[in-house]
Amino acid sequence: MRVLRSLLRSRSEARARPVRCFGWLPLLPVLMLGTVGCDRIPGKPTPAEVPVEPRSVTNFAALYGQNCAGCHGTDGRGNTALALANPVYLALVDDATLRRVIAQGVPGSLMPAFARGAGGFLTDAQVGILAGGIRSGWARPDAVAGTRLPPYAASAPGDARRGQEGFTQFCARCHGAEGRGTGTIGSIVDGSFLALVSDQSLRTTVIAGRPDRGHPDWRQCVPGTALSSSQVGDVVAWLIAQRPATPGQPYSRKP
Ligand code: HEC
Ligand code: HEC
Repeated sequence: MRVLRSLLRSRSEARARPVRCFGWLPLLPVLMLGTVGCDRIPGKPTPAEVPVEPRSVTNFAALYGQNCAGCHGTDGRGNTALALANPVYLALVDDATLRRVIAQGVPGSLMPAFARGAGGFLTDAQVGILAGGIRSGWARPDAVAGTRLPPYAASAPGDARRGQEGFTQFCARCHGAEGRGTGTIGSIVDGSFLALVSDQSLRTTVIAGRPDRGHPDWRQCVPGTALSSSQVGDVVAWLIAQRPATPGQPYSRKP
């Protein structure tokens, strides 16, 4: 009887042993990962996945896409802010101005300053890449061929009274009398609108147009009759004169 029992025990031990022996089997995948994945630890980013330091971005499309496209539109096609891929605008503006505006922004407007020295995040080199890329990608040498382009900046203040007549002649057919709007176009003498835009932005719009919104350039307001430089200055002076002193407030400062 004892012999039989010991025989049974040794049999069952023999059966149990292999199981105990391969008890580490479930650990196998972990062990394999440890050896196979030496150069590719799970979760470790590949070089392509490591984020580029902002100041090392030197690709125009990346810089434009990250910093400008939100307001100026994909590929410079315009959005809330003007289309920069407008060959007439790029004929109007010189490189120094382009770089200055990108670096310093337009104070009192929604155009931010991008240079580090002005509180932004871009290096001078990146500002240069943006200005250069806008020019080389979107300018067209023949954009204003055969015409006299008014200068980017006004050399003397315009005459608002003459500007009102100019507005009637060149602008009212689309913007309504005194710029108060039509069924399709809103008012451009609205105090809140005028408070948000710079004088230069009004001048830029009149000369270079807003092709993204169907606004003609200075040659096409009245087809065949371009505005002269002084007419541009006068119309802009009239628009500026419509800007309220205390925009958005129904009461003046003095009771
Ligand atoms: C938050 C919106 C916003 C962003 C972002 C922005 N802009 Fe502007 N930008 C504007 C507005 C609004 C104006 C018109 C400002 C004014 O009233 O003069 C403007 C004006 C400009 C002008 C001058 C137009 C003129 O009249 O000569 C240039 C050039 C320009 N932006 C380039 C850029 C570039 C390049 C970037 C990216 C680095 C950029 N902007 C990013 C809103 C923006
Ligand atoms: C052929 C029609 C047409 C003529 C002519 C025209 N405009 Fe416009 N203008 C437009 C359209 C369209 C818009 C865009 C309106 C919108 O987006 O709601 C616009 C927008 C504007 C804006 C606003 C731009 C902005 O930043 O949002 C100003 C300022 C403006 N025009 C001034 C003028 C002046 C000044 C003249 C005359 C010298 C003029 N326009 C002549 C069609 C015209």
